[in-house]
Amino acid sequence: MPTQNDRRAFLAAAGAAAFGLPFLAGAQPNETRRRFEQAQQRNNNIAGDGPVVIASGNGLETVRLAQQLIAQGGDPLDAIVAGVKIVEDDPNDMSVGYGGLPNEEGVVELDSSVMHGPMHRSGAVAALRNIKNPAAVAREVARRTDHCMIVGEGALKFALRMGFKEENLLTEQARQAWLKWRSTLNRDDDWLQDDELDLPVKDNKGAQLPSPSGRGWPSKARSGEGQSSLASSQYPGVDETINGVPYTTGTIHCSALTAPGADLAGCTTTSGLSWKLPGRVGDSPIIGAGLYTDNEVGSAGATGRGEAVIQICGAHTIVMRMDAGDHPQDACLYALQKIADCTKVQRLLDERGRPNFNVVFYAVRKDGQFGSACMRGVREFAIADSTGVRLEKCATLFDD
Ligand code: GLY
Repeated sequence: MPTQNDRRAFLAAAGAAAFGLPFLAGAQPNETRRRFEQAQQRNNNIAGDGPVVIASGNGLETVRLAQQLIAQGGDPLDAIVAGVKIVEDDPNDMSVGYGGLPNEEGVVELDSSVMHGPMHRSGAVAALRNIKNPAAVAREVARRTDHCMIVGEGALKFALRMGFKEENLLTEQARQAWLKWRSTLNRDDDWLQDDELDLPVKDNKGAQLPSPSGRGWPSKARSGEGQSSLASSQYPGVDETINGVPYTTGTIHCSALTAPGADLAGCTTTSGLSWKLPGRVGDSPIIGAGLYTDNEVGSAGATGRGEAVIQICGAHTIVMRMDAGDHPQDACLYALQKIADCTKVQRLLDERGRPNFNVVFYAVRKDGQFGSACMRGVREFAIADSTGVRLEKCATLFDD
């Protein structure tokens, strides 16, 4: 015998289906209502005539510049590579390019990919050291080689041959953050923590200062016992700090449409997961994961935990959903739900069995519709269209 709740769920799901929201089928009533309201609030933008450029929240200046360049007749890929360069060059964004947080050995390794819609060409570099603008190197891979990806030493050699300048990408701020991470890994190793350094034992009036807590205390930063907080302004661009140590999977993604019905391009560029194993490659340079562009359909990309995005082929999944008729925001939510469904190991789940990490997807469709969604919390994306340049709030899969 169907209960009242069953009936409500059925009606909500039927309503959702009528509104073209197939991802809602089977959802619980409260969840269905929340997502339904979110879908009603979503951006039903009537794209004017001009370019539409979407990026992650750190890309406000990126979308502004890319929109201008496309409006002046520039190629969409050239425009977004120029746009993301602003963030790659910015020492204060610790998740991308120069100033990005390094790997476990204190070396900055960058990943990037690009796709050019009209010719369906792609290029990528991964684990690239000493070159500030991996997106521009990835574009050269697409433009000047028959390959799709070049990594590590080979990527550096390729970049140098293309005329890129080799430089140290580790800023003093990022080095200090690495030192803090390294020294708080294990109380019993030979890296001293702040409270073990040779600090004065008396203040300038001669009074005794509290003594340091000493060695032998378990304080591994990621033990789960640490004080976790959202990133502070001390570490711009990072996702969170644990016991004062910054962690990031931050990245910049940017996708552009030259005009509704016209051409698309996409680019994702990152310094990747902070403190990663040397050679670790995330989703950003993987075509179909951190970026996918189909000139007949749309373009999508990701920021956040790359391993999760790779395991569901995130950007490709979103473009395929848009091809099947989804609004870009719904396609992003679908991919996030897929990640949630596929996340099964305990260390990646919160107390309610939901992913304890974040992923944010961004998408623009060939007709100019756009959208973005994050796994949890409050996130923003940058958008430039005929109504202006602004930040908008991402939809959220789990909002409590
Ligand atoms: N999404 C960036 C990374 O995981 O490397």
